[in-house]
Amino acid sequence: MNTLIKWINQEIENAFAQCGYDKDYGMVTRSNRPDLCQYQCNGALSAAKAYRKAPFEIAMEVAQKLKGNDHFKEVTCVKPGFINLILHDAWLIDYIEKMQENSKLGCDPIGKGKNIMIDYGGPNVAKPLHVGHLRTAVIGECIKRMGRFLDYTILGDVHLGDWGLQIGLIIAELKRRSPDLDYFDETYTGDFPKEPPFTIHTLEEIYPTASRYAKSNPDFMEEAKQTTYLFQTGHRGYVALWQHILDVSIYDLKKNYANLNVYFDLWKKESDAQPYIPDMIESLKQQGLAYESEGALVVDVKEASDTKEMPPCILVKSDGATLYSTTDLATIVERMALYHPDEIIYIVDKRQEIHFEQVFRCARKGHLVDPHTKLTFLGFGTMNGKDGKPFKTRDGGVMRLESLIKEVADKVYQKVTTNKEIDDSKAKQIAYKVGIAALKYGDLSNQITKDYVFDLERFTSFEGNTGPYILYTVVRIESILSKFYSSHTLVERDKFNLQVPYTESERNLMLKIVEFNEVLTTSFNEYAPHKMCQYIYELSNTFNRFYHEHKILIEQDQVKQYSWIQVITLTKSILTTCLDLLGIEVPDKM
Ligand code: ARG
Repeated sequence: MNTLIKWINQEIENAFAQCGYDKDYGMVTRSNRPDLCQYQCNGALSAAKAYRKAPFEIAMEVAQKLKGNDHFKEVTCVKPGFINLILHDAWLIDYIEKMQENSKLGCDPIGKGKNIMIDYGGPNVAKPLHVGHLRTAVIGECIKRMGRFLDYTILGDVHLGDWGLQIGLIIAELKRRSPDLDYFDETYTGDFPKEPPFTIHTLEEIYPTASRYAKSNPDFMEEAKQTTYLFQTGHRGYVALWQHILDVSIYDLKKNYANLNVYFDLWKKESDAQPYIPDMIESLKQQGLAYESEGALVVDVKEASDTKEMPPCILVKSDGATLYSTTDLATIVERMALYHPDEIIYIVDKRQEIHFEQVFRCARKGHLVDPHTKLTFLGFGTMNGKDGKPFKTRDGGVMRLESLIKEVADKVYQKVTTNKEIDDSKAKQIAYKVGIAALKYGDLSNQITKDYVFDLERFTSFEGNTGPYILYTVVRIESILSKFYSSHTLVERDKFNLQVPYTESERNLMLKIVEFNEVLTTSFNEYAPHKMCQYIYELSNTFNRFYHEHKILIEQDQVKQYSWIQVITLTKSILTTCLDLLGIEVPDKM
């Protein structure tokens, strides 16, 4: 169904057209002076220039045409030429009733028939998730959920890093520690054990140890590189170890992502793209795009309009090794072949922007991607500490994501248990959910491209633009509703219709409610979860003002009370829907 603002637009556009002006001047926005009006049109100001007339005169003509229009309670002109609009409450109610009946609260299924792949998460096997992995997971999950709500067919792919030097380092280190394992016996032809020779804990310790050791020991680094090469070219024992690394890592990663309420549809890996590389390179050569430069095979991707430097995309290094870009290009080939997406969205640290620009240009030039398939790089900013530098542990190390989550949950736990009698395990459960909400909302309420400061105190506050505040609002509505229904039967429920608002704060709440479909569609189209956060913050504020001014549960006038129940029920549906789209779960108590 049309957004309400679109309906209003059409009415005003018609009025402009009927007065002989271009209808495009009838653009309406929400009022920036809610004390004066609900919506406004500033089109007369621009029309004045085109038609060489006083803006106020145009505004008056248009307003005159709108006289008797039963959608508007008031149309007033304000100098120099603003048209201020106040809707008839009946129209508002009518719209809200349509939202109530609509399965998506008024959102059109704009994504029907469109396939989108989202590349997010991007962890590397055998390395624990750290704070740097938070944003891609949280943002990607949200974009995926919003898109699905709008009926896009979406595949979220974790795009696991399983092909690099880290594998060689781990295998070489294992060999140093246990050279007698069958995996290292070049003459061994039997089956390898099903059980991995390590746990996730040893694995997570092996990688940093090996990496540190390699830095100070060139021979070991050389061996790790050689091992990487051997595993990439099919060495039996190494491939078996790599499979173990994958199994152990993926199991652990799934658990960690589930704790964040993040779920991937595909667990594809960099290695899956490797078989596509030879043909891809051949084709880029055939097309005359790939050429040799200083021993490497490269494709030029510079364009005349470039303002910053754009180095060629390297496919094969002079030592014969392929690179991150080669894998990403081959992954595009693989995705086109297997899933035919209309768009691929990459949610990756914005510091990788040039890499993706090179890859996208090379993919277009080399016809690796359908011309209609959109390639979108959504680069996100860094989560910083209070010192304005990338967030670190107290001793300057990289913080594990698990530790960050624990820190936030512990903080919420303190708040939940201070001065309150509450069962401890219940308190822990609540604190965990609220903590995740604090973390995710603290992230998603910022514009994706911007850096932000992780502020534990602010993120976990129950007041202000925070996750806990929104959750608290939902829990409050839920509590009113359950008290109400404990004394009212189901039959009574449907007895009364939604009434026109009785008070200004109720009207304001209704005016916020009707923005939902517009906000959600914009948040998805612009990949802007922060707009949805801002909206639910405003909706919560508007609800809480209404709540403080009305004694819903003891209201004696049943018609009024039932209407309010409907309004707050819808408020709750919108809030819980948006929270779910943000990937945030609501606790039943707080
Ligand atoms: N694993 C990569 C990293 O740690 C991120 C992967 C992002 N996605 C991609 N298609 N390159 O930087």
